[in-house]
Amino acid sequence: ASTLGAAAAQSGRYFGTAVAASRLGDSTYSTIAGREFNMITAENEMKPDATQPQRGQFTFSSGDQIYNWATQRGLQVRGHTLAWHAQQPGWMQNLGGSSLRQAMIDHINGVMAHYKGKLAAWDVVNEAFNEDGSRRNSNLQGTGNDWIEVAFRTARAADPSTKLCYNDYNIENWSYGKTQGVYNMIRDFKSRGVPIDCVGLQTHFTGGSSLPGNFQTTLQNFAALGVDVALTEVDVTNASTSQYAGLTQACLNVPRCIGITVWGVRDSDSWRASENPLLFDRSGAKKAAYTSVLNAL
Ligand code: XIL
Repeated sequence: ASTLGAAAAQSGRYFGTAVAASRLGDSTYSTIAGREFNMITAENEMKPDATQPQRGQFTFSSGDQIYNWATQRGLQVRGHTLAWHAQQPGWMQNLGGSSLRQAMIDHINGVMAHYKGKLAAWDVVNEAFNEDGSRRNSNLQGTGNDWIEVAFRTARAADPSTKLCYNDYNIENWSYGKTQGVYNMIRDFKSRGVPIDCVGLQTHFTGGSSLPGNFQTTLQNFAALGVDVALTEVDVTNASTSQYAGLTQACLNVPRCIGITVWGVRDSDSWRASENPLLFDRSGAKKAAYTSVLNAL
């Protein structure tokens, strides 16, 4: 195969990228994005601050721009994200207790109703754990420890057709407190019938040339709980070819690793632009890391 998406499809997987609505008018950008990838995540446009800037007033113009751009090209879309401590609209940041709990439920219902039946998956909850495996202190956590399962139950009822994911960073190394914290929550959810279908490992790698310890074991162990796994926001300091090849191979080695998404197209598009962490350089040329991924798929 000659594109990342087609190569991933050979094993029934997808290869995706994050897209920013503001860049779609750049033809170099949109040409690469439309050619190489078959799964699209909105980099910011489906987050709470974008979709409900004022309480009760939902706006989907930027999210829909990305959704329409993708589906016109036959590409699938992942939803990102519904409940998160960051990128909340101002009105939500100032809420707590039962009114924030209700606002979270209303937000999930409002956004999921708009995209009902249209998305491959939703990152229902994003980044809810501390590095040591305890729950992150946030206004959402302050509404009660059950806020995550309430979010997932609400999401399942709102759109039974989409896969519901928990998404986080620094859960790639099996011997890490945060990985264990998330693992224990997923195990608990599965044992009690809380609806959850997938775990997203953001896979923001920050140096070195080898993978975090037992990365593939982490994927296998999550999958063994009965959920799909996906690498959802991949970027790698200096685009280490060995790390890019290794993370791709690890996903391919785990049957329930369903796909890989890189967090942007060119290095200049990245939120970590100074680290040149992506697969295309600033001119849109394929980097060595691109070839290492394509060859591994
Ligand atoms: C980042 C975007 O890339 C930036 O444009 C924005 O300013 C901040 O958010 N984890 C996530 C993503 O789940 O939503 C974040 O995206 C990167 C870290």
